[in-house]
Amino acid sequence: MKYQEFYKKSIENPERFWEKQAHQLQWYHTPKNILSNDDNGYPQWFVDGKLNLSHLCIDKHIEDGFGRQNAIIYDSPVTNTKEIITYNRLQKEVSKLAGAIKDLGLKKGDTAIIYMPMIPQALYAMLACTRIGVIHSVVFGGFAPNELAIRIDDCTPKVIITASSGIEIDRIIPYKPYVDKAIELASHKPEKVILFQRHLGAATPAKPYDIDYLEAIKNASPAEPIEVESNHPSYILYTSGTTGTPKGIIRDTGGYATALKFSMKYIYGVDPGDVYWAASDVGWVVGHSYIVYGPLLNRNTTILFEGKPIRTPDASTFWRVISEHKVKVMFTAPTAIRAIKKEDPEGKMINDYDLSSLKYQFLAGERCDVSTLKWTEDKLKVPVIDHWWQTESGWPMLANMVGVELAKVKPGSATFPVCGYDIQILNEDGEVLGPNSEGYVVVKLPLPPGNLRNIWGNPQRFQAGYLERFPGYYFSGDGGYKDEEGYVFITGRVDDVINVAGHRLSTAEMEEIVASHSQVAECAVIGINDDLKGQIPLALAVTKSGNEIAESVIQSEIIKEIRSQIGPVASLKQVILVSRLPKTRSGKILRKLLRGIADNEDYSVPSTIDDPLIIDEIAKAYRTHKIGSN
Ligand code: COA
Ligand code: AMP
Repeated sequence: MKYQEFYKKSIENPERFWEKQAHQLQWYHTPKNILSNDDNGYPQWFVDGKLNLSHLCIDKHIEDGFGRQNAIIYDSPVTNTKEIITYNRLQKEVSKLAGAIKDLGLKKGDTAIIYMPMIPQALYAMLACTRIGVIHSVVFGGFAPNELAIRIDDCTPKVIITASSGIEIDRIIPYKPYVDKAIELASHKPEKVILFQRHLGAATPAKPYDIDYLEAIKNASPAEPIEVESNHPSYILYTSGTTGTPKGIIRDTGGYATALKFSMKYIYGVDPGDVYWAASDVGWVVGHSYIVYGPLLNRNTTILFEGKPIRTPDASTFWRVISEHKVKVMFTAPTAIRAIKKEDPEGKMINDYDLSSLKYQFLAGERCDVSTLKWTEDKLKVPVIDHWWQTESGWPMLANMVGVELAKVKPGSATFPVCGYDIQILNEDGEVLGPNSEGYVVVKLPLPPGNLRNIWGNPQRFQAGYLERFPGYYFSGDGGYKDEEGYVFITGRVDDVINVAGHRLSTAEMEEIVASHSQVAECAVIGINDDLKGQIPLALAVTKSGNEIAESVIQSEIIKEIRSQIGPVASLKQVILVSRLPKTRSGKILRKLLRGIADNEDYSVPSTIDDPLIIDEIAKAYRTHKIGSN
C-alpha cells in the first residue's frame, strides 16, 4: 500500500487502524476498548488491554525459538570492549535483576531512577523495571547532581540503579559520587542504591544504602514478567520545558509498544532479525525508543555504543561499527555527522569500510541543515531520512515512511506526517494556515498511541503547556510550514527551549542560574547558531551598579555555576556583560531580537521597542566578543 492511502486510513478511522497494529503484539488480555478518553477528555489507548513490555522484548522471542539470536551488541571503544548478549542471556540478566529489585520491596507502581553510562546493565535495569511494573526514570549522565536531585524529589524513587563511573572519550566521569551528592541535596531519600562496579579509576567510599549489583543478582531468584494494564506508566522521562523545572513525561505501556512495533516496520523499514543502531544515549527518548524498546520488541539486534562519533578513536568509528556489525539501519543526530565531516571533510575514511549492509541513514534530534544532509547522501550513498519528533511523542511524528513507500527526499523537510498524526500549521489565532505560511506546528487530537499520557505530578502543566494553547490540538512547541506538496518543514522552537548538539535544554533554567549570581541585575540566555552543535547558549548579563568585580571573574563564575547546577551538557561557554538589554516599552526582554542580531538574520524590530538605538549597542558587543556571524 502506498503512503497516502495508508495515512488516510489512520486518520479517517484511527480505532480500526491501531486495533490492527495492536494485534501485532502478544497481549495477556487483548484490548477491546481501543480508544477512549480520560476524565479530562484526553485520548487514551487500549485501556482494557494487559501486557508486559519486558516480556515482549525478551521472553516472547525465546518462546518463538529465537533465544540464541543476538539481542544486544555492546561496542565500547572507550573501554576496548565488545560483548554479545543473546536473547537467552538477556532473559537471565533481566529476570535476576528484576528479582533483586523485588527483593528490595519494590512493587508495581513504585519508581526507580537509573543513572548509568552506556553499558548493558543500563538496559537490563530498564527491562527489569518494566518486567515487574516498576516505573523507571533514566537520567542522562551529562546532568549534574543538582539536576539528578530535582528528579529524585519529583519522582521519589525507592531505589537508584547506577554504576561506579562512565567514560567521556578518555575522562572518567564519577557517576557514583554524583549520586551520593544528589541524595544529599534531595529532600526525598531513596532507600537503596544498586551499584554496578566498573573498576575504572579510584573506588569511592561505600554508603550505608549501597548494594552491590552483582551480589544482589547472585542472591536473587529470577522474576517473571507481570501483567500490567495498557495504561500503566512504563517510564517517566524528564525533559526541558519553558520554565526552570524539568517535566516528567509519562509514557504508557500498550500504546507505546504498539507504536514502536509499527514504527520499526513502517518508518525504519527493518525486519525482525535485522541489526539496527541508534547512536544516542539511553538517557534520551531516542535511547528509550530506539536503543532499547523498539528494536527489542521487533526482535532486532540493537547496538549499544559507548563512544562518540569522533575521537573514539577517530572519525571512522561509525563506519567501523556499521561494517563490523552489519548494521542495516542507522539513526543519529545531524550534529554527529557535522563532527565527523569536520574531521574528515572528504569522507575518505568511509572508503576503508564495507558499508554494503546499510540501507537507510536516519537523522533526528535537531534541525538537519541542507549541507549535512547532502554530504551524508553523497558519502554514504543511501537514502538519508530526516525525521521529526520529541520526548513527548516517543516516536516519529514526521518522516519519510520508507517501510511503506520511499518518498522523494526534500532537503530541509522531515517529509510527511507519520500515520496517526494529523499535523496542521496554525496561526496565532488558531486558524489553519495554507501552504508555505509559517506558523505553530500542532497535531489534531486524538494523538496516536505512544504519546505522552501526562506530566508526572503536574497535570495542570500538561493541560496548560500542550492542550490549552490551541483547543482540540496538541501543541508541539515547534514552528514550521507545509509546502504545496504537503512536505512539512520544521523551522525551530517557538519557546525558550534550545537544542545543543541534539540535547534539549531550557534557556529559562539557565537564566535562573545566571540571575542568581550576586552581581547580576538582569540577564537573558538565548540559543544562537553554531556550525557544529546546531545551537549553543549565550548569556547576556547586566551587572548591578557599583559592581567592582572584574568582568572575566563574573563570566567564569557564571559558566562554572551553570556547569555545576545543570551539568557539562549545558555547554554554556560565553557570557557577555552589557549595559542594558533590548526591551519593549512594557519591560519585556526581546530575546528573539537578540537571537536575530547574533545570527545575522533578517529580523524585524518590534514597534514596541523601548529604544531602537540598542540594536547597534548589542551588535557592537557581539562583534567585540566575536559572537555568531557578527
Ligand atoms: N556523561 C557525562 N558528561 C557528558 C555526557 C555524558 N553522558 N555527554 C556529554 N557530556 C559532556 C561532554 O564531555 C562535554 O564536556 P566538556 O564541556 O567538559 O567537554 C559536555 O558534556 C558537552 O558535550 P557535547 O554537547 O556532547 O559536546 P562534545 O563537544 O563533547 O561532543 C558531539 C560533540 C557532536 C560529538 C556530541 O555532542 C555528539 O555526539 N552528539 C550527538 C548527540 C546525540 O546523539 N543526541 C541524541 C539525540 S538523537
Ligand atoms: P527532544 O525532546 O529532546 O527529542 O527534542 C525535541 C525537539 O528537537 C523538537 O521539538 C524539535 O525542536 C527538535 N527536533 C527534533 N528532531 C528534529 C528534526 N528532524 N528537525 C527539526 N527539529 C527537530
